[in-house]
Amino acid sequence: MIPPGSTIGVLGGGQLGRMLAHAATRLGYRLHVYEPQENCPAGEVATREFNSAYTDKERLKEFAQGCAAITYEFENVPVKPLWAIEDEVQLRPHWDVLEVCQNRAREKNWLKRNNIPVVPFAEVEAGGDLAAGIRTVGLPCVVKTADFGYDGKGQLKVASKADVAAAQKAFAKSRAVVEGFIDFKCELSVVVARNADGQMSTFPVAENIHTKHILDFSIVPARIESAVAEEAAQLACNIAEAFGLVGLMAVELFLTDDGKLLVNEMAPRTHNSGHWSLDACVTSQFEQQVRAITGLPLGSTEMTAPAAVMVNILGDAWKWDGDALVGSPDWAQLLADPRAKLHLYGKSEPRRARKMGHFTVTGRTMSKTLALARSLKASLND
Ligand SMILES: Nc1ncnc2c1ncn2[C@@H]1O[C@H](COP(=O)(O)OP(=O)(O)O)[C@@H](O)[C@H]1O
Ligand SMILES: [Mg+2]
Repeated sequence: MIPPGSTIGVLGGGQLGRMLAHAATRLGYRLHVYEPQENCPAGEVATREFNSAYTDKERLKEFAQGCAAITYEFENVPVKPLWAIEDEVQLRPHWDVLEVCQNRAREKNWLKRNNIPVVPFAEVEAGGDLAAGIRTVGLPCVVKTADFGYDGKGQLKVASKADVAAAQKAFAKSRAVVEGFIDFKCELSVVVARNADGQMSTFPVAENIHTKHILDFSIVPARIESAVAEEAAQLACNIAEAFGLVGLMAVELFLTDDGKLLVNEMAPRTHNSGHWSLDACVTSQFEQQVRAITGLPLGSTEMTAPAAVMVNILGDAWKWDGDALVGSPDWAQLLADPRAKLHLYGKSEPRRARKMGHFTVTGRTMSKTLALARSLKASLND
């Protein structure tokens, strides 16, 4: 066990690190953050901030020497530099989990190898025959860069043969994955934690609504049959077990029209779709991450309200005149409502499509909670 009073390190300094810092310090830990960019959201609330490239082995070593365990809040941390610190400190999860999750081709092959249902896919090397990959999978499909994709970046839908040439041009220099386009009933996610003793715990399944590939709403509990929710939780546990995970991870899934669950992607960290747990769960996903990596007993994931809806607040909610920023959202109605909780990440510069904060609404019935969430969202730029 890593007792309270010890120092935890986190690689990445965005909002997930910031909320981890809140949870860690509340339990009496110190939190050190390592992030290339100065004045990051997590650095503002962490005990100490290290700013250097992820490939700076000296600085990483110095960071590692001050920590009892290191976790992640960003999955595109390069893996190789971590080899140099793995003898100094517990990496939780281990870098091999990170390595699988940060590349879509490795991720999908890993899932297939471990008998986890996955979206039909084909891999195409950089400069390889994308048209052949598309033929293998069939139309319609989605082409994604294997590396560094997030919030729908590096993705292109190929609906018909006429789109193939544009995709070939766009992905000429990238290693890519071609995926069958899934006409899903809904998108789901499960956050799972596992500790070094093999104890596991899942959060209630979230139903996620994306707009322009970015998470817009998370609805918890998901409006699905309980057998499907149990199956989703079981898949997340199977994945955590197969990795020998020590830490926390999120699994995104598609529920198809014929009731099948397919894993879309995994993240070896807390997840946007788990933010509702800060305001509607006995233990938040951030506290659970702390508990899982330190060896404290895992916390209860029981909800504290029958229904919760999390709404992302993007830079779009600010007032714009063309490209010029002309004002802030109107927070008054949201802040006045006792059923809503606002979280802002302290990012200095709002940009369109940039995650600036979120709010969670709780209530007794899902239909009313969702309606209130939508109307409070609309109130931000009345
Ligand atoms: N194969 C697919 N079929 C249908 N929709 C997809 C598919 N892949 C991605 N999407 C949509 O795009 C969103 C973002 O894609 P995802 O693979 O999760 O990448 P990331 O979240 O890393 O940007 C998904 O949540 C889903 O709404
Ligand atoms: Mg995703």
